[in-house]
Amino acid sequence: MRKTDDDQNTVPAGSRRRFLQGALAGGVLASGGASSALAQKRVAPEGGNPKNLPPNVPGWSQVLGDGVAAHPYGKPSKFEKHVIRRDVEWLTASRESSVNFTPLHELDGIITPNGLCFERHHAGAAEINPADHRLMVHGLVDKPLLFTMDDLKRFPRTNRVYFLECAANSGMEWRGAQLNGCQFTHGMVHNVMYTGVLLKHILAEAGLKPNAKWLQIEGADSAAMNRSLPIEKALEDTMVAFKMNGEALRTEQGYPLRLVVPGWEGNLWVKWLRRIEVGDQPWLAREETSKYTDLMGDGRSRRYTFFMDAKSIVTNPSPEAPLKFKGRNVLSGLAWSGRGKVTRVDVSLDGGRNWSEARLDGLVLDRSVTRFYVDFDWQGAELMIQSRAHDSSGYVQPTKDELRKVRGVNSIYHNNGIQTWLVRSNGETENVEIS
Ligand code: MTE
Ligand code: CO
Repeated sequence: MRKTDDDQNTVPAGSRRRFLQGALAGGVLASGGASSALAQKRVAPEGGNPKNLPPNVPGWSQVLGDGVAAHPYGKPSKFEKHVIRRDVEWLTASRESSVNFTPLHELDGIITPNGLCFERHHAGAAEINPADHRLMVHGLVDKPLLFTMDDLKRFPRTNRVYFLECAANSGMEWRGAQLNGCQFTHGMVHNVMYTGVLLKHILAEAGLKPNAKWLQIEGADSAAMNRSLPIEKALEDTMVAFKMNGEALRTEQGYPLRLVVPGWEGNLWVKWLRRIEVGDQPWLAREETSKYTDLMGDGRSRRYTFFMDAKSIVTNPSPEAPLKFKGRNVLSGLAWSGRGKVTRVDVSLDGGRNWSEARLDGLVLDRSVTRFYVDFDWQGAELMIQSRAHDSSGYVQPTKDELRKVRGVNSIYHNNGIQTWLVRSNGETENVEIS
């Protein structure tokens, strides 16, 4: 089995199937009218206690709750303990050079909470004292500069919501369905509001020489992870961010400073940002030669495939979120594009034969994830669920076969093919592929 930094192995066959336990047992409205429906609702579901159900006064209504000082920094309810980032143990050799995944099937709306943003580190998460952190700008500039964090916060500030997707997201699915979970097939994406400074302001302060064409961006982690960025993108919309969702970046996400490169592959979003060197050509760094290039069918490689093309995923139902009820159901998912806004999402329940337009809900923003829903009635028929994103550039998300026709099967990165979930008549949902 091939293995790279972001590559993943095959799941052992036995773990491919998860069975739904008692999924249809609780909460289904009985057909005998309102009173028997009410009676059903008085049965405590799994993990519950009938003593808390009406007409009793539940335990929590009989005692005082925690006082205001109990949690100076808030955390989720203890009943949400399962909503966590997860990794796949056999995926990489060490925790320091590894990845975990956003629990997409547990989230709604478009913002990823800070504690649930997937992490991808090449040498662990550096713990940086912001007082000692500096951003260095040098190379083909009029005056090399060193910025403190306070200096950076005195430039005009910008707030933007953007998705970050690792180029390796869904990378293990190139040769067929592998990982039986939405979190593991699509969870290398998060969507955050960043606060920071447009890089063009910082470069203007240093003064670019006329032959400035590329930047080398480097992190302060022990991998000193570096990438080359074309000057046009640096001057267009690239940001240097110090806040995510209103608070300081999390250590895992690059505290105190990271690069934000809207719509482009996650590897360019250098964390723990410490150095920007201006040059006249790319640096041919490890991460843009042996990694983050796309090996084609004929053995040649595509280099600098920066854009993340339009993609979508049905997060519910999915293998971790099977269908539980007959009758009224909500299908939910996310769509995004590195080339603009999501303009439309189609959903098929029969493996791509018939499509209907999903309902986009909430904010539809440029290079941010967009939430979509299909409200549908399910009577236990087997379904083959797919979603297909359209973006403002006119691009339509391809099938996996269409992608393979162009790219072959040697690829790891940039797999934006249409995902299929098979929903069985008991609601159990599985990662499959139709060809
Ligand atoms: N920056 C540094 N300094 N070191 C790293 O290992 N990983 C890159 C990028 N920036 C990395 C880095 C990769 S491959 C991705 S996909 C994103 O950070 C992941 O960002 P996240 O951990 O906030 O999800
Ligand atoms: Co990555």
